[in-house]
Amino acid sequence: MKILGIESSCDECSIAVVEDGKTILSHVVATQIEFHKPFAGVVPEIASRKHVEWILPVFHQALEQGGLSPGDIQGIGVTNRPGLSGSLIVGLTFAKALSLSWKVPFVGVDHVLAHLYAPQLSAEIDYPFIGLLVSGGHSIIARVSGPLTVEVLGASIDDAIGEAFDKVAKHLGLGYPGGKVIDDLARKGNAKAFQFPFANLYKSGHAYDVSYSGLKNAVINQQDLFWDGESPRSIENICASFERVAVDTLLKKLQAACRDTGINRVVAGGGVAANSYLRDRLQGMQDIRAYYPPLDLCTDNGAMIAGLAFHYLTAGLRSGLDETVYAKVPG
Ligand code: KG4
Ligand code: ZN
Repeated sequence: MKILGIESSCDECSIAVVEDGKTILSHVVATQIEFHKPFAGVVPEIASRKHVEWILPVFHQALEQGGLSPGDIQGIGVTNRPGLSGSLIVGLTFAKALSLSWKVPFVGVDHVLAHLYAPQLSAEIDYPFIGLLVSGGHSIIARVSGPLTVEVLGASIDDAIGEAFDKVAKHLGLGYPGGKVIDDLARKGNAKAFQFPFANLYKSGHAYDVSYSGLKNAVINQQDLFWDGESPRSIENICASFERVAVDTLLKKLQAACRDTGINRVVAGGGVAANSYLRDRLQGMQDIRAYYPPLDLCTDNGAMIAGLAFHYLTAGLRSGLDETVYAKVPG
């Protein structure tokens, strides 16, 4: 079953065709980063306007790349939650139009579940596993028991981890998005030069939650209080010290989730999963096997939407023409 997947929840306009939830036949991702860079963040109005301009050419390119014609497609998946409403509406409306004219079913797909499904497109990973979704919009630790069976165990109670990287980078004048720049600078720094604070979320109900606004503000308002007084107050040292706390905060919660559930497989996804310190630390975790999808499947993409839509559609799930978008996942 060949499924066309459409992703337009943020600043990536992407369409892919995936067969039987596994084999990527075509995959086109058009990123808008250049248009948002001057604003050091995604501007919703620009994002939805770019999706309107780009979605048709991206669609044609996706069919062409796979040597496919409309008659080959048996179903459509489209991200309809969570994300920027104006951007989601572009993809959803496009999916409805295709579904009507091709007379094939379409289904609205949860973007977070799709990120947690993405690794299955590049490897055979047994369920259950602990999913770690870390991006500009999410910091989620979940127990994933099947493509459609995901239990969120914990999340950030304020800023997402990628958002913290981007805001710290903005403050340090390192441009947008800042995660990769901080990662590169941190490699040359001393991660113990600054003692930035760990958020201490251990109260009941927060066992697997994280928080990044305190860390972000500590770095931005960095004072002698956090400095060891000897290491240079260099950007490399600030980046390395920030990155250590940001990643180790996550790992403590991840280790607790693995220990408490007895699951020793971890699958990381989202843009921050590209972070080299995070990858090193995950590889070094005792008794835990870590998997990451390749980078183009870590960041927002249509292939993960098409892949997961296969499971929705084969489970009998369908959307109607009254389907709508949700900025946040309901419930
Ligand atoms: O998944 P993604 O492409 O988009 C969404 O936010 O949905 O993730 C983008 C985020 C940005 O915050 C970016 O700074 C961060 O991923 N990022 C990184 C690295 N590469 C990208 N953060 C830390 N280290 C990296 N190497
Ligand atoms: Zn995403």
